[in-house]
Amino acid sequence: MANRQLPKAGTIEIVPSILSADFACLADEIAQVEKTPSTSSRQAGVKMVHLDVMDGHFVPNITIGPPVIAKIRKCSNLFFDSHLMISEPERYADDFIKAGVNNITFHIEVVPNPTDFIKKLHDAGVSAGLCLNPETPVSKIEKYAHLADMILVMTVHPGFGGQSFIQKAADKIKPIRQIVGPNIRIEVDGGIDAKTTPIVTGLGADTLVAGFAIFGQSDRAKAINDIRSAIVAGLPR
Ligand code: DX5
Ligand code: ZN
Repeated sequence: MANRQLPKAGTIEIVPSILSADFACLADEIAQVEKTPSTSSRQAGVKMVHLDVMDGHFVPNITIGPPVIAKIRKCSNLFFDSHLMISEPERYADDFIKAGVNNITFHIEVVPNPTDFIKKLHDAGVSAGLCLNPETPVSKIEKYAHLADMILVMTVHPGFGGQSFIQKAADKIKPIRQIVGPNIRIEVDGGIDAKTTPIVTGLGADTLVAGFAIFGQSDRAKAINDIRSAIVAGLPR
């Protein structure tokens, strides 16, 4: 039976991003990470997949939209974590929800007053993520952060996979954790791999998006387990 609720805060989740997957066989690619077993009770299994939606306007790249998501929904039981890098997320949210996403993360840069939008997403039965770009200060989300289910801290400039991790952007995780407390997830996206994982978990992130570090590798199970091991290595003793 599929559990399509955002996992309750308190676990560290690895969330493979399809951006580095082979789009010609997306369902098979997602199935590979879905099958990856959890190796110990302390290490989270893969419960979620991150779907990067780009419109060629908010970011200089174009990916997938609702028709593709509706098709892959039929092939996967994972929680669909959609990251809308689009200029008008309010306009398209219903289409993504109908297609079967379970979370909609949108950018504060294009929805400066997100209270109503977050409520609309909750009323429609999906969770809401609030995202900020590397150059966007924490003060921009401060008033709204407690309304969201998850805050997404971009640690690269959105648009492409395989970019280098920006430490200065990751430094915002700590003040955000102080603002939201322990019950709201902090997701981090961009340049996450076994090396950067202990940095972001040490700062307070609990939801780790990884594209190239998983789908850019031939052995996806090993790639996920490498990140898992780095989580364990980074846990306070
Ligand atoms: C980038 C996307 C990311 C991307 C991350 O704009 O939002 O989700 O897949 O890619 P990596 O993990 O390769 O940096
Ligand atoms: Zn993303």
